[in-house]
Amino acid sequence: MRKLKNIMVTGGSGFVGTNFIRYIFDKTDFDGIIVNVDKLTYAGNPHNLIDIEKKFGTKRYFFKKVDICDYKNINKIFKQYNVDTIVHFAAESHVDRSIFGPRDFIETNIIGTFNLLELTREFWAGKEDVLFHHISTDEVYGSLGKNGYFSETTPYNPNSPYSASKASSDHLVRAYFQTYGIPVTLSNCSNNYGPYQFPEKLIPLMMLNMLEEKPLPVYGDGKNIRDWLFVDDHISAVWTILNKGKAGETYNIGGENEWENIKLVNVLCEKMALLTGKEKDYYKKLIEFVKDRPGHDRRYAINCDKIKNEIGWKQSVSFDEGLERTVQWYLINKLWAANIKNGSYRKWIDVNYNKRNISLQ
Ligand code: NAD
Ligand code: TYD
Repeated sequence: MRKLKNIMVTGGSGFVGTNFIRYIFDKTDFDGIIVNVDKLTYAGNPHNLIDIEKKFGTKRYFFKKVDICDYKNINKIFKQYNVDTIVHFAAESHVDRSIFGPRDFIETNIIGTFNLLELTREFWAGKEDVLFHHISTDEVYGSLGKNGYFSETTPYNPNSPYSASKASSDHLVRAYFQTYGIPVTLSNCSNNYGPYQFPEKLIPLMMLNMLEEKPLPVYGDGKNIRDWLFVDDHISAVWTILNKGKAGETYNIGGENEWENIKLVNVLCEKMALLTGKEKDYYKKLIEFVKDRPGHDRRYAINCDKIKNEIGWKQSVSFDEGLERTVQWYLINKLWAANIKNGSYRKWIDVNYNKRNISLQ
């Protein structure tokens, strides 16, 4: 078991990063510090961690509003907190946005990752008790036909600017292990769902549209397949890799839970109907087939035997339970979604973070 002390989490105010930080403080025996470095793009919401900041702030949790492309400031933070572990979530993460505007994806996902790697080269040369863990996606492998699964040895074949930028960052991370001997691990995960997911992704978008009785836009014929994993299971896999993963190795993480989009949307409609007291098919009338996404990958499916057999991880939340918990979370936290939809979360960030010049504290 690795001893983790001073963890720099990048992108900790986004969906998976938020769940990661909450999990570490709530569900593990980690007793070190976490520095969350996040630029607070549209997808970053530090309000997600306000209770953690209150409970652990000034001693064990620190937030820095900094862009990972800003080498000078991340260098300063790295030194200040004597970082021994980087868990790198920060990214532009939405495929549709990457189609309409790829530049930010290239900058954050490639140049940002390169900057973090350069830090490790500067501060970690010759050190063994350090680790750079890179969070990536199964989308780097491209698209599957009806059969087969992505494994760690599947050749990269990315199809969107998002997946191409993530693929590029994966290659850089591997290269720093091979060339400079920096201890790195990588994980490529399938589609996550759960609390705090920005309502541009399929599951939260559909749920919030149902609540507003707006159309549910299903791309193309709705038969594209994704392998869904509850976010806490992604986090527990990352935690297992941080503690037991072998330097230089990639681990695939998946739900072993494939769903055609249209079938998933139907199930989600039924769950929502059940939990809002409507009749079973109530929300299904909102489903609309719309123009397909360009370059839309047909099927993703992960073989995660390696992480299961070599370091002992497995999924613990069934799809039925995970969906129920997710729908319930969005129903209880209607204000969270409303603040995103009406933009007031940006005003809150401006008052509480931007004006306090958090990055220099
Ligand atoms: P997200 O879009 O919800 O959050 C991304 C976070 O990164 C935000 O807080 C944002 O402010 C921050 N960020 C963006 N650019 C930054 C920059 N230049 N400097 C500092 N911070 C910056 O994304 P997510 O869904 O939480 O995904 C997190 C990671 O997990 C990504 O690397 C993504 O590729 C990977 N991943 C996500 C999924 C999924 O289904 N969500 C699946 C597999 C892998
Ligand atoms: P998404 O949540 O954007 O994740 P990714 O593209 O990274 O897999 O989309 C999941 C699937 O749902 C994908 O096949 C595209 C489809 N989709 C829709 O059909 N309608 C939508 O409004 C969205 C956002 C996605």
